[in-house]
Amino acid sequence: MDKLIISGGSSINGELRISGAKNSAVTILAASLLGNEPVRICNVPHLRDITTMIELLGCMGIEVVIDEKMSIEIHANTIKKFTAPYDLVKTMRASFLVLGPMLAHYGKAEVSLPGGCAIGPRPVDQHLRGLEALGAEIVMDEGYVKASVDGRLKGAHIFFDVKTVGGTEHIMMAATLAEGQTIMENCAREPEIVDLADCLIAMGADIHGVGTDTIVVNGVEELGGCTHKVIPDRVEAGTFLIAAAATGGCIKLKDVMPEHLEILLLKLKEAGADITCGTDWIELDMHGMKPRAVDLVTAPYPAFPTDLQAQMIAMNTIAQGSATVTETVFENRFMHVHEMNRMGANIKLEGNNTTAIIKGVETLKGAPVMANDLRASVSLVIAGLIASGETEVDRIYHIDRGYEQIEEKLQSLGAKIRRVAG
Ligand code: EPU
Repeated sequence: MDKLIISGGSSINGELRISGAKNSAVTILAASLLGNEPVRICNVPHLRDITTMIELLGCMGIEVVIDEKMSIEIHANTIKKFTAPYDLVKTMRASFLVLGPMLAHYGKAEVSLPGGCAIGPRPVDQHLRGLEALGAEIVMDEGYVKASVDGRLKGAHIFFDVKTVGGTEHIMMAATLAEGQTIMENCAREPEIVDLADCLIAMGADIHGVGTDTIVVNGVEELGGCTHKVIPDRVEAGTFLIAAAATGGCIKLKDVMPEHLEILLLKLKEAGADITCGTDWIELDMHGMKPRAVDLVTAPYPAFPTDLQAQMIAMNTIAQGSATVTETVFENRFMHVHEMNRMGANIKLEGNNTTAIIKGVETLKGAPVMANDLRASVSLVIAGLIASGETEVDRIYHIDRGYEQIEEKLQSLGAKIRRVAG
């Protein structure tokens, strides 16, 4: 297994281009199953999760053409098998999202249940309830969801019990080909959902209200193809901004959408960063200073994203003062805390492990560390950049799921980081 070796203690400085959003791209790849014509997706990041999704489409017999710039063209009507096997779904939960599009387009689908996950149980009850409300017949058999419908799905009124990104995306995709109108309430509002809707609309879908709590989908008989450019990855952008803030650096990000990062930018200003933004760039300057501690509570968009919580804890470990960080989205997303404490951080978990109290220390010390989740793993890279001495981050296949060329990008910003094959 590959590892990252980091010699910490210096700041992150320079300019960087941000890649396309992983969480948009994987869902849009699933949405391509709805089209009768080829769907071409551009600005797709070169990541393990994307390769897994392409492998899944490939094993259903679908023709996928990838060019050297990672533009991907999918012709769904070449589908031969309507099954998504456990081996692939277990490695990437988002692949479960092929269920609704396959069912809506072809009337049948068999998709493995994704099972638990390092950050919490992550049920899919809201997805399944929504599909049943649209008229799907669903049976569970040997760990698989077997779904079918006679004719087309039927529009319905759906209220989500929890704000769910994947649930909102899943039902919105299925409803595009349903007969009649679907009204979805208590929807999630993440930018990736808006990006997915933009792609579906370009394919011919009739969708209103995306980015608000209520989405209305007027079903159409068929969807065509389109060319769609994926939005920039706000979590990748946020991760580099936090790395710069934590190391007292100065960084300019290009190809970003600052409006997707509003709350993070407010928090980083609170930490003492000077921030300026243009339409597609963000510049952050800490002027070599240590950050001030900042409190935060994660919650669905537009509140503070759970996907940047671990990185902010890394910054807070060496900040001036104490911070309280509360996680409300996932049950078990503090595994980085114990690893950071091994590096000399002072973090205590309270409230049934939902809140971290971080007392800023002078510095961290390098150590061998690892985590079982993408964002926890990358937060350990930030901790390694802050720390004196050498940090070895193990199990970095998690990082490769969501960060394109992380070591090259950090090297270009002056970090002393290298990958070693394990
Ligand atoms: N939930 C249910 N029932 C459901 C669905 C969700 O109880 O049927 C619960 C979950 O257990 C969780 C909460 O609702 O406690 C929110 O989960 P959500 O469905 O919004 O998450 P997701 O769609 O599975 C996406 C991202 C995650 C990101 C979350 C929250 C993708 C591929 N994944 O997951 O990204 O953390 O939304 O914003 O879009 C990551 O990139 O590292 C990552 C984990």
